[in-house]
Amino acid sequence: MSTAPRSDEATTPPTIGMVGGGQLARMSHQAAIALGVHLRVLAASVDDAAALVSPAKALGDPGDPEDLRRFADGVDVVTFDHELVDLDALAAIERDGLAATRPSAEALRFATDKAHQRRRFAAAGLPLPRHRTTTDVDEARRAAGELGWPVVVKTARGGYDGRGVWVLADEAQLDELLHDLTTDAGLAEVIVEEAVSIVREMAVVVVRSPDGTERSYPVTETVQVDGICRETITPARVPEDVAAEARRIAEQAAEVAGAVGLIAVELFHDGEAVTINEVATRPHNSGHWSIEGAVTSQFENHLRAVAGLPLGDTQQLAPVVVSANVLGHADGRDPVQHLAGALAVPGAHVHLYGKGPRPGRKLGHVTVLADSLDDARQRARSAVAALGDPVPEVD
Ligand SMILES: Nc1ncnc2c1ncn2[C@@H]1O[C@H](COP(=O)(O)OP(=O)(O)OP(=O)(O)O)[C@@H](O)[C@H]1O
Ligand SMILES: [Mg+2]
Repeated sequence: MSTAPRSDEATTPPTIGMVGGGQLARMSHQAAIALGVHLRVLAASVDDAAALVSPAKALGDPGDPEDLRRFADGVDVVTFDHELVDLDALAAIERDGLAATRPSAEALRFATDKAHQRRRFAAAGLPLPRHRTTTDVDEARRAAGELGWPVVVKTARGGYDGRGVWVLADEAQLDELLHDLTTDAGLAEVIVEEAVSIVREMAVVVVRSPDGTERSYPVTETVQVDGICRETITPARVPEDVAAEARRIAEQAAEVAGAVGLIAVELFHDGEAVTINEVATRPHNSGHWSIEGAVTSQFENHLRAVAGLPLGDTQQLAPVVVSANVLGHADGRDPVQHLAGALAVPGAHVHLYGKGPRPGRKLGHVTVLADSLDDARQRARSAVAALGDPVPEVD
């Protein structure tokens, strides 16, 4: 399966198994339906977003080596909707030839371990915020002193949606955090880094084939509020040379990580330099716009890549594409009960993930294609306001 089929050759596409039953697996499932490709999901519960819609689901814990192995044994290719996977078990699956793992355990480690990621990207000469990785309290304090205040501290493993990231104003706050992160086993590995004066936060989604063929999507701007992505704007509001630089860096990062399938590269622009924040080796929130907004969606391209099929065109279909996330409203409303309000907005493409409506939880997104940013943004926001927490009025 390592060589792509010739376009005039008859081959049965592999059965793909996606580990994780969240919204990314749910939207991958939609893409699989269109292609007629078999997708199975390994979900933790029958109520998971993808388990609700997939007839071919297995229930199990991706962190449990036995569950992962059993799942891999029933498919040709294993891929992922999240990174919380036992990497040793995955490496054993590769070694024993139970299934092709795309991405590999080695590539996935870039996403599960931010310290590993930083070391590998730094060694490859990729631009990063000034930082230090350490498991030593004194070294962490020294690094913060050198980098200056405020300083950012992140745990190397286990963070998502801003959990595991702290901006600290002074030494007292740092000491308190380091104390909290210390157990009998010592300090959990952290990255201490400069607080970047972010002008624009961006993401570039890159799709990569097993043979190394790569395509990147146009640069997306991610509007973050309190560490959570609320809105994406494509193309990002950055000069053309900055966008080109961002794509070049992202494509190189994909290569260094040895990604197969999608890799989303989160980047900062501080008005002068572009630096890499982090990567995720799977479909990503910053690529949801591509479902309606690009010739080929990120989900379809991920499936194409991991199946060894030709990659699809990543071009954007309208001058501006805005996607806004539906986060659970404080009043606990179920967005599906407010569909009418959202669908009354012209051109609003509504996606709901079937998840229980908890305040602040990502429950869906809305995408609008338009000729102008104001128009796209205003329509996406008004549909989101009907469904969940309104997007704050930020630039
Ligand atoms: N060095 C930094 N300087 C300034 N802001 C930062 C820095 N690092 C992170 N942030 C802010 O915090 C957000 C979350 O950080 P990061 O992406 O590392 O965490 P995460 O929890 O893994 O993210 P995700 O939401 O992608 O799961 C970033 O999107 C950015 O807005
Ligand atoms: Mg992030």
